[in-house]
Order: sequence, then C-alpha cells, then structure tokens
Amino acid sequence: MKELLWQTHAEEGPENAPLSKLDPRLLLEPYGSAEVRATDLRAFIDVLEKAGRLLRVRERVDWKLGIGRWTRARHRPLLFENIKGYRKQQVFTNGLIDPGCIALALGFGPGTTWARLIGETRRRLKDPVSPKMTMLGPLMDNVIPSSAIDLFQFPVPKWSQYDGGRYIGTWHLNISRDPETGDRNVGVYRMQLLGSKQATISASKGSDFARHVARAEAKGRELPVAVAIGAPEALVMAAGAACPKGMDEFELAGALQQQAIDVMDCGHLEVPAYSEIVIEGFVHPNVRVEDGPYFDYYGRPNTNRDAFLFEATRVMHRDDPIFRGCAIGTPGAEDHQLFAFLAQLKLVDFHGSRLKQKVHNFLWKRRAFSALQTVGKWSAELRKRG
Ligand SMILES: Cc1cc2nc3c(=O)[nH]c(=O)nc-3n(C[C@H](O)[C@H](O)[C@H](O)COP(=O)(O)O)c2cc1C
Repeated sequence: MKELLWQTHAEEGPENAPLSKLDPRLLLEPYGSAEVRATDLRAFIDVLEKAGRLLRVRERVDWKLGIGRWTRARHRPLLFENIKGYRKQQVFTNGLIDPGCIALALGFGPGTTWARLIGETRRRLKDPVSPKMTMLGPLMDNVIPSSAIDLFQFPVPKWSQYDGGRYIGTWHLNISRDPETGDRNVGVYRMQLLGSKQATISASKGSDFARHVARAEAKGRELPVAVAIGAPEALVMAAGAACPKGMDEFELAGALQQQAIDVMDCGHLEVPAYSEIVIEGFVHPNVRVEDGPYFDYYGRPNTNRDAFLFEATRVMHRDDPIFRGCAIGTPGAEDHQLFAFLAQLKLVDFHGSRLKQKVHNFLWKRRAFSALQTVGKWSAELRKRG
C-alpha cells in the first residue's frame, strides 16, 4: 500500500500530491536488493538497475529539449542510450529523484525509512573520511590537450525551452582553491557553453567560488578551476551543501558515503578519479559574461549578467563517458529532492538574508516545493521593483 501511494505520487508529480500523503517518513518503497556500493556513477547506475529503479531509454532522443522533457516528465532515474548525433555516448539524469534513490546512493539498503536515513546520516557527519590519493584512473584513458578541445563533443543538453543555450554544468563539481589560504572549495555553479572551449560559471556573490575569483583578481591572476562531470553522487551532495566547519567537501562526501573519495592530482587541483569527465581550465580575471536565461529552481527564466568566464585547457574522460546532468525548474525536481534532504541535516546555505534562509529551510523540510517556487518568484519580483 505504501509503495502504491509513493508510485501514484511519482506519476502525478509530487507537486500535485497532498503533502500529508507525501510525508517521506513513510517507509521507502522496497526496491529489491542493491548489492553494489554506489561509490562511482557507474556503480550507482548498477545499484539503481538491480533495484528495479532505472529506466533505460532506448529510443532516439534529441539533446535539444528532448532529454529535458523526458527528465521532467518521469520521476525516476533515466539512462539515455540513443542520443541524436552522439553515437556511443549516454546521458544520465534523475539519479536522486526521490528519498529512496538518495538512500541507495549513500549505500543504504532497500526499505530504509526516512527517519533512519536522516538519523544515520547525521551520525555519519560526525565522522569525516579523508580522500584517498590515487595515481591512475580510468579518466586517463582519454586526455585531450588544449589545441584539440571541443566541449560540443559531449551530448550537452539544452534542458528547457526557456534556456538561452546548452548547459554543460547542472549536476557537476567546480573545484578551486583559495589563492590566499589554499583552502579547497567544491561547489555546484551552473555552466552554459559559450564556445568549444568556453563556458560561464554562474556563482552567487556570497559563494566561496566568487571569493576565490575575487582574491585571484586582486593578485591580477587567473583562477585555476577543474570541472568534474559524472562524479560520485555523494560528492555532488557535498558540493551543493553548506560544508560544516572543519571539513571540506571531499571529507564531507567521504562521511556521507562512509568511504573515502578517490582523488587524482592534476597539478593545481585534485579531482575525483572516478569521474566520467574532468575539464581543467581557469577563470579569466576581470571578465564578466552573460549567463542565461536559465530555467532555475524557482521555475523562472533567470539571467546572470555577472557570470565568470571559464576556459578549458585540458579534458580527460573515461571511454564512452556517461554525461550526468539534471533538468530543474519543476516542483520536486532532483535539485529540490537534494535540498529537502540537506535541509534535514542543516546543510543548506544559499547566501541570502536570514529571513530567506529560514523560509527556505522551513519549506524544504516540509517538501513544499510548489510553495517554495511561489515564494521565490514573489521575492524576485519584489527585488526587481526595487
Ligand atoms: C544542482 C545544483 C545547482 C546549483 N546551482 C548553483 C548556481 O548556479 N549558482 C550558485 O551560486 N549556487 C548553486 N548551487 C548552490 C551551491 O552549490 C551551494 O550553495 C553550495 O553550498 C555553495 O557552496 P559555497 O558556499 O562553498 O560557495 C547549486 C546547487 C545544486 C545542488
């Protein structure tokens, strides 16, 4: 019965389901047995498949709007195997589309309750796990030097009709170091392709990333940045989170999955060794570009005229890389699911006012996604009117 309830809501879209019935403290649906630990994207896809959650999309789908439409219409993990113009490449979306998938990504068994997931994760957070250095990884199978880089070689979707272009960074990592202290930051800041080697990085003014750029600019330098796509899911969770003091995101991810993240040294920066794709490059100092419009988490087209300009200098990828991304903008989309989880752990910070923070946390915790979008649209409108 509980399983049925959940499935019905998933089909309707959580935004249409009464909140009382959507209470995730319900038993998570029994997913079957998930024997593999999901410490890299391929293992996670395996876990989802064994648990009967994955849908392999074998029909031909267009990167231009098609992948986004499929992703928004189905509340389950999708692996696109036949993308127009991109033979042999696959795109994976909706990996964390409900609490059950989040539990599987962190190695919990099927039938884990929401209360246990939250309780056990809180306990795990007390126990950071340091990353483990490795010299070689499957990423090194394909190393593309600057002169040969073409980011359009990947099936980067145009996710929504409201988007101004193709977004390569939607569920990825931006890795950088503070030019003064050397502290590492790993965040998720959206990235729109501007050319074969260039993309935006749209980071909020209060973010650690914006501070790193400002400090590099003060020294008149470029900021080295690595972008990882198809990284372990626990790491994307950590990158989207407000990292607790005394921990960095690699350690937080290790804590979340109770297993060290394998990292590789790329000179300036360490990157997760089991990513599908890593793009190394830098942010140009004192250059700002327009990013957007982008159909954002409030469900409105959003433009940032102060985005940073990223330039790729080296690309590494696994053989037949699986491109990971997400289609946001609808209530209950994957980013909402992640923030509802992180809010329970007190790990959300959008760098806004205290009031905004309080309201957001209240709504995330109640999984009131439609209400959150309404509040977001109102506050944006009020800001516009001055
Ligand atoms: C899927 C996803 C997309 C995000 N997109 C952005 C973005 O485009 N810009 C931004 O500033 N933050 C974005 N965030 C939020 C940041 O990643 C988050 O606030 C993180 O805590 C920032 O870390 P920082 O405080 O170290 O900068 C996104 C988070 C997720 C999970």
